[in-house]
Amino acid sequence: QNEIYFAGLAGVVPTVPVDFASLEARAAAALPPSVLGYLQGGCGDEFTQRQNADAFRHWGMTPRMMVDATRRDLSIDLFGMTLPSPIFMSPVGINGLCTQDGHGDLAAARASALTGVPLIQSTLSNDPIEDVAAAMGDTSGFFQLYTPKDKPLAESLVHRAEAAGYKAIVVTLDTWVTGWRPRDLNVANFPQLRGHVLENYFSDPVFRAMLAKPPREDLPAAVRQWAGTFGKVLTWDDMPWLRSMTKLPIVLKGICHADDARRAIDLGADAIYCSNHGGRQANGGIAAIDMLPAVVASSGTVPVLFDSGIRSGSDVVKALALGATAVGIGRPYTYGLALDGANGAAHVLKCILAEADLLMAVNGYPTLAAVREAGATRMGY
Ligand code: FNR
Repeated sequence: QNEIYFAGLAGVVPTVPVDFASLEARAAAALPPSVLGYLQGGCGDEFTQRQNADAFRHWGMTPRMMVDATRRDLSIDLFGMTLPSPIFMSPVGINGLCTQDGHGDLAAARASALTGVPLIQSTLSNDPIEDVAAAMGDTSGFFQLYTPKDKPLAESLVHRAEAAGYKAIVVTLDTWVTGWRPRDLNVANFPQLRGHVLENYFSDPVFRAMLAKPPREDLPAAVRQWAGTFGKVLTWDDMPWLRSMTKLPIVLKGICHADDARRAIDLGADAIYCSNHGGRQANGGIAAIDMLPAVVASSGTVPVLFDSGIRSGSDVVKALALGATAVGIGRPYTYGLALDGANGAAHVLKCILAEADLLMAVNGYPTLAAVREAGATRMGY
């Protein structure tokens, strides 16, 4: 991380900006409007999306002095592994839209390999998840499941993820139907319906068996089939089935209520993922960071992953101070992908980590245990 800081001091201007506001402005200027709308947009008038980021301003940290924080340890233990840092790349569907060559998923995986920051790979991948896993190199990845209505298809996706070496299955609960997203709805060529979106499905044997003709020979039928099978409504009764599909750790994404966290753990979830999908699914909700403390309190020793609204290193440290085990970066890395592919996304992750690391130094927090002990205070403004 020092490399970015010292390059800046030496007057080298980075290709991709180091702060979120400049990054977003540059991505907005570079991307076609439909793609920008898809990445940047949220639900309704985007009140909850704005709240997600703004609410971090209401949480503050208190520095400690006379502590030797010359060396910081940002590593975490998760699912029996030691990971070098407490951040990960949140699952983003159709990452292929971010890069000119349509292989944004592979670029994200390469960013993961470059930084050691794990990628949670979305089901909605432009590249087969096996190819994405291979591009991650030695860095561990996790697979995010959008559970199809068709159970054998869901099982096939999970078994492929296991075989490809993903280390956990992240089941997203809040998106069996897509939220009201005006920026997508106002654009005629809604990107999710473009044929090239579906390579991960097209390479799935169970999905192919559902089609009369191979997907390339009848693309509209393949897209219809995909849309028809998307989005099983999951209930607590499905937990035994989810559990039976895999021996990998299961993470439930979208848990925001303390009671839901408790129930998930009682029914065998290995980790809770507190997130409101970056404000893309439901508008009018409480900022995700404001829901985190209650979820942490009811999760005991079970790891809690968090995302929604993280824009900087200080946001990461605040989420860790409030009890998150690991913190997900969503839109920021997609803008990095858009501006400079794998290197751009890696740069964004490194900047966020560099700021978090430096903040821990000046605040006198040498370890993540110290961060958690210090906590964060809800301020009255
Ligand atoms: C997402 N998110 C998401 N989540 C998921 O579980 N599967 C998916 O395929 C996607 N796809 C997706 C696409 C795009 C363009 C975005 C921006 C987000 C949600 C994502 O994992 C995460 O929860 C949010 O991005 C976090 O909010 P911020 O940091 O982007 O504000």
